[in-house]
Amino acid sequence: MAVKPVNLGVLASGRGSNLQAIMDAIAEGRLDARVRVVVSDREEAMALERARSAGIPAFYVNPRAYPNKEEYEQEILRLLQKYEVELVILAGYMRLVGKVLLEAYPNRIMNIHPALLPAFPGTHGQRDAVEYGVRFSGCTVHFVDEGMDTGPIILQAVVPVEQDDTEDTLAARILKEEHRIYPEAIQLFAEGRLEVRGRKVYIKPKGEEKGEE
Ligand code: GAR
Repeated sequence: MAVKPVNLGVLASGRGSNLQAIMDAIAEGRLDARVRVVVSDREEAMALERARSAGIPAFYVNPRAYPNKEEYEQEILRLLQKYEVELVILAGYMRLVGKVLLEAYPNRIMNIHPALLPAFPGTHGQRDAVEYGVRFSGCTVHFVDEGMDTGPIILQAVVPVEQDDTEDTLAARILKEEHRIYPEAIQLFAEGRLEVRGRKVYIKPKGEEKGEE
């Protein structure tokens, strides 16, 4: 059965390689989705350039132009609603999501984090793993809740940490896996196969998508 493409709104702060991986997966027919709008909290974010080159509406929303986080997020929400976004994708968005977006998109915001959560949350997942001396790290796609990298886990991928790894070499190895599993997780959502029960995400087998929560 054909899957109805899910409307995505992507929030990004920087390079945008995960956004690119998602756009590539859509172009190659591996992901039933449309990136309807890209929003960044940083004017110089390469993610905005990538979106514009692909003909996708892209907006810089300056957090400092608003008196508080609620009003900043109201502006983002206005854009997401204007473009009929069904699922919000955080792709290197380096801010904690607040109440306004969480309440508008409950279990409808995904994030990718460059570590095997709950290990090494925060902004330096790769560096923290190298410094700690773990043998394996990886990446995690999860639904976003009010905590920092704490929401229900959808998919993870494991990568080895080599003895001579630096933050950068490990980050590059992890990034390859990020680009693979993020489109996969979004496709599971598009197929109606993700069900959140408490803090766990159940992946329904293909053909049992009915009764989507
Ligand atoms: C990615 O490695 C992503 O996992 C990480 O930022 C990078 C963004 O790269 N996100 C976090 O650390 C969130 N805590 P990209 O802009 O090229 O997609």
